[in-house]
Amino acid sequence: MRVSVDPMSVEPNTSESAPVNGYTGAGPGEGLSAPLRPHAEDAFAAELAALDVQDDRPRPARWKLSPWAVATYLLGGTLPDGTVITPKYVGPRRIVEVAVTTLATDRALLLLGVPGTAKTWVSEHLAAAISGDSTLLVQGTAGTPEEAIRYGWNYARLLAHGPSRDALVPSPVMRAMAEGRVARVEELTRIPADVQDTLITILSEKTLPIPELGQEVQAVRGFNLIATANDRDRGVNDLSSALRRRFNTVVLPLPQSADAEVDIVSRRVDQIGRSLDLPAVPDGIDEIRRVVTVFRELRDGVTTDGRTKLKSPSGTLSTAEAISVVTGGLALAAHFGDGVLRASDVAAGILGAVVRDPAADRVVWQEYLEAVVREREGWTDFYRACREVTV
Ligand SMILES: Nc1ncnc2c1ncn2[C@@H]1O[C@H](COP(=O)(O)OP(=O)(O)OP(=O)(O)O)[C@@H](O)[C@H]1O
Ligand SMILES: [Mg+2]
Repeated sequence: MRVSVDPMSVEPNTSESAPVNGYTGAGPGEGLSAPLRPHAEDAFAAELAALDVQDDRPRPARWKLSPWAVATYLLGGTLPDGTVITPKYVGPRRIVEVAVTTLATDRALLLLGVPGTAKTWVSEHLAAAISGDSTLLVQGTAGTPEEAIRYGWNYARLLAHGPSRDALVPSPVMRAMAEGRVARVEELTRIPADVQDTLITILSEKTLPIPELGQEVQAVRGFNLIATANDRDRGVNDLSSALRRRFNTVVLPLPQSADAEVDIVSRRVDQIGRSLDLPAVPDGIDEIRRVVTVFRELRDGVTTDGRTKLKSPSGTLSTAEAISVVTGGLALAAHFGDGVLRASDVAAGILGAVVRDPAADRVVWQEYLEAVVREREGWTDFYRACREVTV
């Protein structure tokens, strides 16, 4: 955990470059051009390098690491020389092992799950650990055209010199095939069915024809594809069965226990806080536990002790949303509070996550506040803070 700084005790400061209020990297010119969110392979370059050095297991063709080392990178561990690998994914080991091994076979990987179960996150880290490059990415939307998966043309060159390899603009998938890397397709089931089907030849023949040039790109070893799909948006049934057969599906579950979810939220909040240079706030584990408890109870439709049945609101109340609520709370605590994460810092965030539908969800929330939160021992401050923001 980060060092706490009491904002009130910091002397007023006129020099711009000195740390103010616990800020660490905000001096002029200092780290200003660093990317807001570095790619996984850059953010965790030191861990990947340490794994590379100590990994003596066989590596599939063009893989930067062995499947064992990729799984260790995702799940965390301590290497023989003492290097600590931080866990990226917190969840069943077997899921990660199946996902990694799938990518070493000729089948592609489909990560499926409700929103906020780390599908995108896992896919980015898998691509980073396997290929050293998580950027070969196609974002699936209802408007994704075939060119985004196959290739497009640079029209200036096409008109000036006619169709040639020079005028061709390869898609991330085509580049991954040519370079033997892992490509990623986000939100596969949002892509129109006929465009999705472009992937069938790519995944079964491992070839991408370019009829305009009478050529083709043949995938080299090391190529594979990770797709993610959200089973709340539109069902996975929207994948044609021909395409579905080309994928091994791995379902990412919601965290099984409250402890696991608290662990995920506190780790991610800490990482995000650092990357945003948020002023340090002391360990807010109790407040994080409360946010997670509220989310889990409303999601599951029952209180933790199993005694009271609850109505669930329309939002998903995922772990990802709990992370946002706590990160927002930390920023409030640091900038406007006394530097300690309190109920009043997370209350508005929780309300925003729970009340999506202003009518129905508000009733659900109010019932929960009165029937559960109000009665709960030690939750008076939380009840008050929530009442204050619920108008
Ligand atoms: N089990 C978990 N282990 C580690 N991090 C997790 C876990 N579950 C959720 N997260 C965190 O939640 C955040 C959101 O995850 P991500 O965006 O990958 O979700 P998603 O499944 O792709 O959601 P969506 O369906 O909305 O695209 C990430 O910051 C991730 O670190
Ligand atoms: Mg996603």
